Amino acid sequence: MTANDVSSTAELTGTEAHIEATEKYAAHNYHPLPVVLAEGDGAWVIDVDGKRYLDCLAGYSALNFGHSNERLIAVAREQLGHLTLTSRAFFNDKLSTFARALTRLTGKDMILPMNSGAEAVETAIKVSRKWGYEVKGVPAGQATIITMEGNFHGRTTTIVSFSDDEVATSGYAPFTTGFRSVKYGDIASIAAAIDDTTVAVLFEPIQGEGGVVMPPEGFLTDLRALCTERNVLMVADEIQSGLARSGKTFACDHEDVVPDIYVMGKALGGGIYPVSAIAANHDVMDVITPGSHGSTFGGNPLAAAIGTEVVAMLEEGTFQARSTEIGDLLEAGFRPLVGRGLSDVRVRGAWAGIDIDPTLMSGRQMSEALMARGILAKDTHGSTVRFAPPLVASDEDIAGLVAAVAEILTDVPRA
Ligand SMILES: Cc1ncc(COP(=O)(O)O)c(C=O)c1O
Repeated sequence: MTANDVSSTAELTGTEAHIEATEKYAAHNYHPLPVVLAEGDGAWVIDVDGKRYLDCLAGYSALNFGHSNERLIAVAREQLGHLTLTSRAFFNDKLSTFARALTRLTGKDMILPMNSGAEAVETAIKVSRKWGYEVKGVPAGQATIITMEGNFHGRTTTIVSFSDDEVATSGYAPFTTGFRSVKYGDIASIAAAIDDTTVAVLFEPIQGEGGVVMPPEGFLTDLRALCTERNVLMVADEIQSGLARSGKTFACDHEDVVPDIYVMGKALGGGIYPVSAIAANHDVMDVITPGSHGSTFGGNPLAAAIGTEVVAMLEEGTFQARSTEIGDLLEAGFRPLVGRGLSDVRVRGAWAGIDIDPTLMSGRQMSEALMARGILAKDTHGSTVRFAPPLVASDEDIAGLVAAVAEILTDVPRA
């Protein structure tokens, strides 16, 4: 009998045993790099064999403040000793503070707390539809929401209904109706798609899973004006782009634009706990009434305590400033590689997408080569790799990343 027999309670040790057991007992909904992580501190993680890696994925930006962030861990530990869950059937003494803090950060009147990012997006969809019927006067059952090609907003049945990623949608029909897809960043297509049934435009200010794709300059400003003019809610999914990742608190801040609904997640829980929320003003959020939406864990005291500290850290501005500095280093390091193995580079704050010449190697091969050099990153869409290191990464960490990419591109055999 081995440790991987289901009847065994023996502890698993070593990379191979963990991978074998995970592949055997957990569904194959991911294709992870063959590394088994056991420790994390700041921008670095350590695997079960003691090897160190620079974490350039940072939990898809949930770990903006780094692994084991002292302030967040202290708050979580403290709260664990008091109260973790009440459900919203009762008030708790942490949600009040969290809600006040997050409305201050967003400049909105109210928040609606949830847990995962997908739940927050679902919440924004429901609120937008309800607003459409009750405030805008859209005929019952006819609300439409405009979405963008290449989007990623999560994995629920409704959300994948407006995804154009075949792997994410295949086999999951029938889908939810009421969505119209347009080209990302194309203001004329959005204007043409809006009609009397349109309640919202749902978009990512920067498409993260799409490969750190940015809309044309001025798009956010134009979209704000269009949504106001046509009485349509501007719904910004800032789950990945927000909370300092792009160098600003929100990616919409790059054009000083304020959406009607902010959708937040990932780093709101500091990489410790799933915390998500939407924020909006009364004219929108007041459509929510008791019993019309909810979640057992949404707004629980542990989540709220961590979220409050996250807001406090963001209000100091240091993470946004560091994100910008890291972005400058990434830009300076990657830009010269365009034409020398890379076909394009997109950087906004500590967030970079590099497109590798597909004749040289795939994104997955680049990720594997980086892993061999002690750097963890994730490919997307075949030949793209995105980097989103924790915002506590040092200049040396970023220099090491850039040097490793350059070295791999130099070493790869050319036809
Ligand atoms: C922009 C965006 N929205 C929504 C989600 C879904 O978040 P979650 O995986 O927490 O459900 C993600 C996750 O990557 C995301 O990047």
